[in-house]
Amino acid sequence: MFMKNLIKEAVRRFVESSKSSKVQLISHFDTDGITSAAIMSKALSRARVNFSLKIVKSLNDDFVKSLPSESLIMFLDLGSGSMQLFSHLKEVYIIDHHEIKTDFLPNTLLINPHLIGDREELCSAGIAYLFAKELDEKNKDLASLAVIGTVGDLVKNKGKLNNEILNDAEVVVKKGLLIYPATRPLDKALEYSSSIFIPGITGNSQGVLELLKEAGIERENGKFKPLLDLNEEETSKLITSIFLRRKDYDNSEIIGDLYLVKFFNKLEDARELSALINASSRAGFSQTSLALCLNNKEAKKEADKIHARYKQELIEALNSVASGIINKIEGRDYIILNAKDKIRDTMIGTVSSIIAFSQNYKEGTLIVGMSYNGDKIKVSMRIAGSFNGNGRKANELIGSVMKFLEGEWGGHASAAGCTIKKTDEEKFIELLKKKLEVEVVQI
Ligand code: C5P
Repeated sequence: MFMKNLIKEAVRRFVESSKSSKVQLISHFDTDGITSAAIMSKALSRARVNFSLKIVKSLNDDFVKSLPSESLIMFLDLGSGSMQLFSHLKEVYIIDHHEIKTDFLPNTLLINPHLIGDREELCSAGIAYLFAKELDEKNKDLASLAVIGTVGDLVKNKGKLNNEILNDAEVVVKKGLLIYPATRPLDKALEYSSSIFIPGITGNSQGVLELLKEAGIERENGKFKPLLDLNEEETSKLITSIFLRRKDYDNSEIIGDLYLVKFFNKLEDARELSALINASSRAGFSQTSLALCLNNKEAKKEADKIHARYKQELIEALNSVASGIINKIEGRDYIILNAKDKIRDTMIGTVSSIIAFSQNYKEGTLIVGMSYNGDKIKVSMRIAGSFNGNGRKANELIGSVMKFLEGEWGGHASAAGCTIKKTDEEKFIELLKKKLEVEVVQI
């Protein structure tokens, strides 16, 4: 198997080089990046490798130039699109699943499923885990982190290697409503679920109580049971009540596989852990997320608090889009939401994703979120609906605009992003509109 051979070769080289060089890990700050960083940190500590770790939002020229040129550098969940920046570095390893945009350099070893034509939908944490396991079988206890990273990046748990990871993690897979957390009281899960947007329910505690009453689900000992403890009849009534509010849903959108992983010796919903890690990192507390992945109980409590605040802010952001406070430019099959400073830059991607999944827009509609970050603007693009790979591709669109502008960009066909200069705000919008209009003419 090509991926396994590539990992084997990378580990062999890495072990040899790390005997004489210090290792610098650099990971992306989302769930996949943080879980990759946790897996690699633990594996390197166990192997007594001398390393340090930096967690970053994105890579840019100045940051890469500041890296110690004599160290061995390992990028986790980023780097595939920035290899042109690495020529001055001594030895580089990239564990990543993003699009490969530049030519290979002789100093760089890339482990990326795109090299094998996407046959395996592995995310970065999955690759980091297989690397760690190749380093030492003892690292099999890190498999749950790989599952959390996979779920966090909406990568499907398909294929032989993902199955190996699920088996190693002893994951319990259950069919159920795709609302999370499945292990916490149902009323809160419904109110704060960002996986499914239900009008009148998401962000509305009164609406939640009405829905539960209608479904005949009552409090027991003063509390609603978690989704996982509902019996078949209760689940079916709840689904019916949700369908009454969202007639456009089809079964596969709200019912699917729930992954339960062992964490702090308890079975936890992998999506909830993934959301916790993501939220506290995006709120500026990446170290808390990392500590949580490394089994620090205090960090878990702290992350729970940050997550609650984050969910509140997210609901406010979604309401600001719905109420028209945010500047909207709507065209044929696209909408640009220019939030400026009304939505935090680290939240605009999540807001764009929720809108893309919300079914408020026709399948294939391009959702573009923009948000200020100092003298820069963060842009997130999503394709609405269940992405089938046949329509327009977000990464190609963003790439065709970024040919004319300065800034980092990258991503996948269904989700891509970039950072531009604030002074290019109007130019970016004009270039994008022009590109989309040309597209319409071609169709
Ligand atoms: O930031 P956002 O969530 O919009 O990113 C969507 C996808 O595009 C992610 O997979 C992210 O890693 C990728 N991306 C990238 N380079 C950027 C911005 C986003 O590769 N500068």
